[in-house]
Amino acid sequence: MGKYVITGGSKLKGTVRINGAKNASLPILAASVLNNSTSEIKGVPKLKDVEVMLNILKLIGAEVKQEDTAFVIDSSKIDTCEVPEHLMRKMRSSIFLMGPLLGRFGYVKVSYPGGCEIGPRPIDLHIKGLKILGAEIEEKYGFIEAKAKKLVGNEIHLDFPSVGATENLMMAAVLADGLTSIRNAAKEPEIVDLQNFINAMGGKIKGAGTDTIRIIGVKELHPVSHSVIPDRIVAGTFLVAAAITGGNIYVENVILEHIEPTLAKLKEAGQLIKTFGDVVEIKGVLPPKSIDTLRTLPHPGFPTDMQAPMMSLMSIADGTTIITETVFENRFKHADELRRMGANIKVNGRIAVIRGVKSLSGAMVEAKDLRAGAALILAGLSAEGVTIVEGAQHVERGYENIDEKLRNLGADIRKVD
Ligand code: UD1
Repeated sequence: MGKYVITGGSKLKGTVRINGAKNASLPILAASVLNNSTSEIKGVPKLKDVEVMLNILKLIGAEVKQEDTAFVIDSSKIDTCEVPEHLMRKMRSSIFLMGPLLGRFGYVKVSYPGGCEIGPRPIDLHIKGLKILGAEIEEKYGFIEAKAKKLVGNEIHLDFPSVGATENLMMAAVLADGLTSIRNAAKEPEIVDLQNFINAMGGKIKGAGTDTIRIIGVKELHPVSHSVIPDRIVAGTFLVAAAITGGNIYVENVILEHIEPTLAKLKEAGQLIKTFGDVVEIKGVLPPKSIDTLRTLPHPGFPTDMQAPMMSLMSIADGTTIITETVFENRFKHADELRRMGANIKVNGRIAVIRGVKSLSGAMVEAKDLRAGAALILAGLSAEGVTIVEGAQHVERGYENIDEKLRNLGADIRKVD
């Protein structure tokens, strides 16, 4: 298990290019099983979670070829719809295979998925929706077995706009008979990317990015080539890295609309931001201003995945910030670790009160989930002295060579295995 060793104090300078989005790549890789032929998916980041998804695809019989950051997946040879338990447990996103496998083959058996420990992450909305499409589902001994001769389009109203459930149900409905409507659907940009991928292989989906998605079932799909969108959370993380070090960097390959909620809060924090096409320049201003209220919400609200990085920035802000985490129940684990670095943070349930301090000090801390790990690296970049962030495996689930990219911007960070 690796750790990052960071000596704080370097102001970041230079340009970083943002890789393809993890949260777009994973459902799109899963959706490739809908296609009884080949899918070329470009811009897939090199991440642990992607590796797990590709291993699952290979184990169920798909042929996976890699050409640089493009993967060509031939799903015509899939010969089992049972996802091995040890791989399911490695990653929550393995649940994405339920919808497409069931939609195409009428059968799927998976175990309950694993993933980050950021609160209970039930899959009741996925299961409820699949049942509405006609699946018979049995849950026993930790396994979920779903069967359906043929899924049939129907009206689904989600109790909460879950990203994963919206994507899983969209995929399940692609080959179903008739029309499916998903209401109160999640509106995240990754859902639009999934729609674009599926439509490019012959699916008929409309409305992704709004709260009603309509899918007209089709009989079959055809070969496809698609590039995934840039990762808005990685972009946001680098922007905070510049802000927290008082640096000046250019972040390339972003879709501005996708990072607007993060840019708005960085501007409120007094950071100087200019945008040029798909590039954002940020000049960090220290100390950052505190942000009165920061509330995580489904898109286009402030993303829960940026909450931890923003908490690191607010730790050294001039004033007090109140963060309310409305999406996940247990997503403040980084607060304890930031306190070890001298931050003044009080947590009460879903609310964190951060009173800015002059500076953080280096300490030994542990990343307990993906975004918490990123937040601790950011805190380490700003802290006086040396910070050791243990738990690099969590960070590697979502950030491609983060240490190398930060080093290229002048940070003193190395990964030790
Ligand atoms: C996705 C993202 C993750 C991001 C999250 C919220 C991927 C691979 N991951 O996760 O990075 O933090 O969206 O933007 O895209 N819920 C239920 N029942 C369900 C499903 C979800 O109660 O069946 C609840 C969850 O417990 C959570 C909330 O809904 O409290 C949001 O979860 P969801 O939107 O489903 O997140 P994920 O798809 O898991």
